[in-house]
Amino acid sequence: MTSPLLKVTNLKKAYGAIQAVGGVSFEVMPGEIFGVIGPNGSGKTTMFNSVLGQITPDAGTIELKGKTITGLSPLELSRRGVGRTFQTLQVFGKMTVRDNLIVAAQEHHGSMLSRMFAPGDSGLGAKADALIDQFRIRHVADSLAGTLSYGQQKLVDIAMAFMAEPDLVLLDEPCAGVNPSLVGGISSLLKELNKTRKGSFVVIEHNMDFVMDLCHRIMVMVEGRVMAIGTPAEIRANKQVLDAYLGN
Ligand SMILES: Nc1ncnc2c1ncn2[C@@H]1O[C@H](COP(=O)(O)OP(=O)(O)OP(=O)(O)O)[C@@H](O)[C@H]1O
Ligand SMILES: [Mg+2]
Repeated sequence: MTSPLLKVTNLKKAYGAIQAVGGVSFEVMPGEIFGVIGPNGSGKTTMFNSVLGQITPDAGTIELKGKTITGLSPLELSRRGVGRTFQTLQVFGKMTVRDNLIVAAQEHHGSMLSRMFAPGDSGLGAKADALIDQFRIRHVADSLAGTLSYGQQKLVDIAMAFMAEPDLVLLDEPCAGVNPSLVGGISSLLKELNKTRKGSFVVIEHNMDFVMDLCHRIMVMVEGRVMAIGTPAEIRANKQVLDAYLGN
């Protein structure tokens, strides 16, 4: 049996009287694209932020490749191969696309001192260029990111997460606000990155066609709890899920 890349056990986080995450457990296997769906306010982002060290969970353990990572800082997690994208864009509008990528990597690239004395951009430019080609954004690489369409900025945002060469990337609503014509492109890009970079992903998304087409398995969260985990076909056929969420 392969051991899980990410293992979350009994994760809990409350905000006052609101139990945002109420005891969530799941495993993500190496190479897996794992979807997370659920109504607004069901605790998806809170779960992400707990896994990613952005907030401290009240209870639960998080393991990466068998090692406990509960409570580690986002920077430490990044060094251990965990990347993320946020529900809202994190792109610097007044910098070029290429510089956005380079700066995203520098955040995680050794100490301030080692960065000051590193020769040139120590290979980051080449890494950025490889991603620019893979993301098919070469034609805008030297444009200020703020001049791009929202969908294109979203692509840049996703590319930034890959600069640190993560084993696991958590993406919070990569299709939110993106023109429907670009959604298929994001999906095929993630499939390609999953293959070529052996990346594992956890993807929160409300776009059901996207999730069902992209993910190997899907977790349904409702009111801070796991309602179901299964393949897209199993989730589609789950009566409880249909009643609570999917069947309108
Ligand atoms: N910083 C916070 N302070 C207080 N309450 C919060 C905070 N963050 C989230 N909550 C509450 O926790 C619950 C879960 O929110 P969360 O953002 O995790 O949901 P979500 O599933 O990501 O929703 P969406 O699909 O709308 O992004 C909600 O009731 C929300 O109002
Ligand atoms: Mg959210």
